[in-house]
Amino acid sequence: MNSFVPEQPVWQCPACRTPLHLSQRQWRCENGHCYDVAKQGYVNLLLAQQRNSKAPGDNNDMIMARRAFLQAGYYQPLADTLSELLINLAPKPLRLFDAGCGEGYYLGEIAKRLDRESIEYSLQGIDISKPAVQKAAKHHKVGAFAVASCFNIPLPASSQQGVVQVFAPSSPAEIRRILTDDGVWLVAEPGERHLYALKASVYDQPELHTQTDAAPEGFEQIAHRQVAFDFTLATAEQRENLLMMTPFYWQISETKKQRLLKTLSLVGADFSVRVYKPKSVAQ
Ligand SMILES: C[S@@+](CC[C@H](N)C(=O)[O-])C[C@H]1O[C@@H](n2cnc3c(N)ncnc32)[C@H](O)[C@@H]1O
Ligand SMILES: [Zn+2]
Repeated sequence: MNSFVPEQPVWQCPACRTPLHLSQRQWRCENGHCYDVAKQGYVNLLLAQQRNSKAPGDNNDMIMARRAFLQAGYYQPLADTLSELLINLAPKPLRLFDAGCGEGYYLGEIAKRLDRESIEYSLQGIDISKPAVQKAAKHHKVGAFAVASCFNIPLPASSQQGVVQVFAPSSPAEIRRILTDDGVWLVAEPGERHLYALKASVYDQPELHTQTDAAPEGFEQIAHRQVAFDFTLATAEQRENLLMMTPFYWQISETKKQRLLKTLSLVGADFSVRVYKPKSVAQ
């Protein structure tokens, strides 16, 4: 185990943006805001005004399905690519933040790889979904997890050498704020043909995913990997897990769903992983 404890506080107060300090299972700031540590070990730093519903983000069923699917190793090639890019491009020791971490699958896989390479790291992850963060904290004891929004990240300025963001939203200004000047931001998005076979069984005329080539404001792209591979779904349960991870689950008719659960077998995954670094002020 190579994880290290960072010398500065992990979290900052989402209300007043001063550092939070942990004492007796409470994170407190100097202005008297305090946040309890939950029994699974995470902290809820989502302010009431950042909630757009009572239970924002992915719900428990979606999270259980995604966890079962990811734990079966279907997306391991994406986890491997993220690990390799971090090993090659991120400064070390590595404070690594996952924006929209879900139940922490990618952080968990990256940690195993960093351990094998004897690289020192610490892991931080946030997600707006409480059930996702509960599972992340329960299954990944080396990381620090919080319920929070990627649009108000509860981390200090210039505190992370690496950020990963897999199929989740964020604000480039917030990522720039928390990243060190030499840090890297890895963004994984669907490539053109991601889950095309699944789409083709939902829509009569499926469209390809659109790609954006422009780097987010304040960043320049330093690497791009296309990670494409096929995988086989052997059971109806695996097919349903995959379907529940996508927006199609809510759009598909019952007849099409039943057909898909019986027949969908070979599916192609296609990920686009871009690595950005902050533009230097002189540029
Ligand atoms: C498609 S899932 C990806 C989860 C994880 N990165 C993975 O690939 O396993 C998108 C995640 O983003 C979270 N999310 C959506 N909006 C968010 C926001 N504003 N702040 C933080 N997380 C958010 C959802 O709850 C969900 O867990
Ligand atoms: Zn505060």
